[in-house]
Amino acid sequence: MPQRHPVTALASIPPGSAQAFTVAGQRIAFFNVDGKIHAVDDTCPHAGAPLSDGRVQGCLVTCPWHAIRFDVTTGCMPGQAEKSLTVYPVFITGDQIEVEV
Ligand code: FES
Repeated sequence: MPQRHPVTALASIPPGSAQAFTVAGQRIAFFNVDGKIHAVDDTCPHAGAPLSDGRVQGCLVTCPWHAIRFDVTTGCMPGQAEKSLTVYPVFITGDQIEVEV
């Protein structure tokens, strides 16, 4: 059953940036898109690059190894309906980020 886990302070992931954490054994990337935190798998499904090291433009992250792009708000590649990444529910409690895993 999924549980909420504290991750880090909200201020540690400013808008336009990303950071990855291991939560409940999962490597999860947290992206701040215009002040809202989104959490998806950090490991690119193509060949395993850390997506948190990718270039972030709006809601899109570009994988640092082969440049596939993912929408971090949906877990999908642009123009595709099928999810490529697991999207994790995020909660903000006070100034802390929590994620449900
Ligand atoms: S490892 Fe991400 S696009 Fe290849």
